[in-house]
This record gives sequence, C-alpha cells and structure tokens, in this order.
Amino acid sequence: RTINWDVQAAQKGGHKHFMIKEIFEQPKVISDCLAGRIDLEKGEVVLSEIADLEPPERLHIIACGTSYHAGLWGKYLIEKWAEIPVEVEIASEFRYRDPLLSKGGVALAISQSGETADTLAGIKLVKQKGLPIIGLCNVVGSSVARESSHVVYTQAGPEISVASTKAMCSQLTALLLLALYWGKKKGVIDVATYSRAVMDLRNIPSILEAELPAMRDKAQELSREFSEAYSFFFLGRGMYFPLALEGALKLKEISYIHAEGYASGEMKHGPIALIDPKFPTFAMALNDELFSKVKSNLVEVQARGGEIIALTNPGVDLEVEHRWNLPEVWGPLNTFIALPALQLFAYETADYLGKDVDQPRNLAKSVTVE
Ligand code: G6P
Repeated sequence: RTINWDVQAAQKGGHKHFMIKEIFEQPKVISDCLAGRIDLEKGEVVLSEIADLEPPERLHIIACGTSYHAGLWGKYLIEKWAEIPVEVEIASEFRYRDPLLSKGGVALAISQSGETADTLAGIKLVKQKGLPIIGLCNVVGSSVARESSHVVYTQAGPEISVASTKAMCSQLTALLLLALYWGKKKGVIDVATYSRAVMDLRNIPSILEAELPAMRDKAQELSREFSEAYSFFFLGRGMYFPLALEGALKLKEISYIHAEGYASGEMKHGPIALIDPKFPTFAMALNDELFSKVKSNLVEVQARGGEIIALTNPGVDLEVEHRWNLPEVWGPLNTFIALPALQLFAYETADYLGKDVDQPRNLAKSVTVE
C-alpha cells in the first residue's frame, strides 16, 4: 500500500498557500527576532553581533525589492532615535555610482536570501573602500552573511513564497532594535521612549496573533469589491510612506493589478491627475502626528471622485468609503499591525483572481543574476 503524501501540502500546515502561512507566522517571527536581543532584567536591547562596532557617523543602507522598503522605513527610526544620518539606496543603483563612502561610515546590506546579486556587488564596493558592513539577512551562511564584516540574522525561518512577507516583518523588527541600540549607545534617545519601545514591542506578537483572523476577513471582503480595479494608489506619509510602497509592490507582484506607492503629499505634483471613480486609493491613515496632513490629501482624492480604502484606528476622525480599523498600539509599533493588513489585501485579491500566489509569473525568490 502506498501513501500519497504531498510534502508541500504538509509544509503548508493546512494553509492554501505558503504566503498566507507566512503572513500568519509573523507574531512568532517578531518573538524569534527579539529572542536573546532584549535583556528582560535590564529592559535593554542587546546586539552582541555588533557590540565591537561604534555607532556610525553615517549609515548607508543598500537593498532590493521588499528589503529596500524595509531600509526606507528603518531610516526614519535610526535618524530619529539614534541621530545617525541614513542614506537608503537600491543596490543596483548604488553599485554603479561612485558613492561617497568616507571613514566613520558603515554600510548595512538588507537581504532575506543573502544571495541577491546587486546587493552582493554593493557589498564588494563597500569592502573595497574599507568600510565595515553589517549584513542583515535571513539565510544563515548565505553569501551576504559571508561577505559582510558583521551579521545580524533576522531569524524569520525559511520563506518559501516568492512575495516576501514575514521576512520584511523580521527586518523591521531588527531595524527597530538597531535604532534603539545605537540611540542608547550614543546616549541620544530619551529614556521614556526607549523603555516604552522595549516594553511594548514584547506585546506586539500577542496583539497581532489575536487580530490576524479578523484582518483576513476584512481583506477578503475588500478584495471582492476591488478585484476589477485596473490601478491602485497606495499612499502614506512619514514611516508609512515605505509601507505604501510595499503595499503597492505586494499587490502588483501577485495579483498583477497595477499599483503605485506614493508619498501622500506628493500626489498634488502630478499623480492626482489620474484619479477618477475607477482609480481607487489605498491610504495609510493611522493615528500619528501626520494624520491631519494625510486627511487633507485624502479630501483632495475624494474631491476628484476617487474611492478610498483607509487603514486607520478607532476614534480617528475620518470619513471614507471603506474604513479599515486596526487596533492602536504605541507609536511606530503600529507598523507591525499595518504591514500584515497590506499583505492580506494583496493575498486575498490574488487568490480571488485565481493567480498563482506563491509563484507569480516572471518572478524569482532570489535574483542571483544581474
Ligand atoms: C526578489 C524577490 C523579492 C525580494 C528581492 C530582494 O525580487 O522576489 O521578494 O524582496 O528579491 O531579495 P532579498 O533576498 O535580497 O531580500
């Protein structure tokens, strides 16, 4: 007697696709990334991997795709909390420029696979100039890990789906730790912010775990309504601008619906001309200090007949056609709730349209050629 045992089905653990499995793994991914990196007794971030490195005078982040979006997000926190000027660059651009890499600078290469050719070429360039380079990667022993002078592993576990989800979540967690770590080491982050971040970060996995099923339902409902859209804008400001870029990337990668991520305030400089009742906008309108600005940008979209889905928080004064309330947590940690919402929207849309979610056409999990 033979047993039909589908290895892939077994690995999907009851889920229809790896992507949805990986989205749902994010609470654990955050916990795993934090494991051993927060000293509970002292309430302190410990990054022993880079303990011998002085906080840099300048940080050069290089990455591609989703990892690049993570880098853009990291810039906000590293500049704010650690007061380190950060430049974030797409690796394929960085490698062919003559970047100004002077003494005192450090490079940070972000790569899930650790095998992306452009990112590796960027690392080689940095090495030639003699700067230290931190590899922030997921795959242990990968080329990025081997070529870097220091390695911080994101500990997200294997990511199978081509579209990156949990890997980004782990990269954001590590970048947040890095901002806290350097901010403290330099003595520039205020004590209250530091301890609040460390304390509240530890609660994010359980909050997210509880929230994910309802978020998936909401994503499913919206995906049905918008599956016929040809184009989408994803808008955000501040640290939600990189998330808007990522929301757009996820949607186009797996559902093949055209989507553009924009900084909300930049809409008026051209893109708003595209808005009409058939061109919906997915807005990041969370309750932060930039909310009132985002709101006025959305009013402009509505004035042109554009339909809006808004990721927001309860109690926020906003009137849009499709309001998606997420529970509000402290400050930048709201990112960890908003990111899966974007991923789920893309996932549910692609699945509803019958696309090959885990293996989208023309895409590869790691791009090892130029
Ligand atoms: C490919 C993948 C993307 C990924 C990018 C960078 O294009 O399809 O999901 O974000 O490479 O990959 P890396 O492994 O360097 O993070």
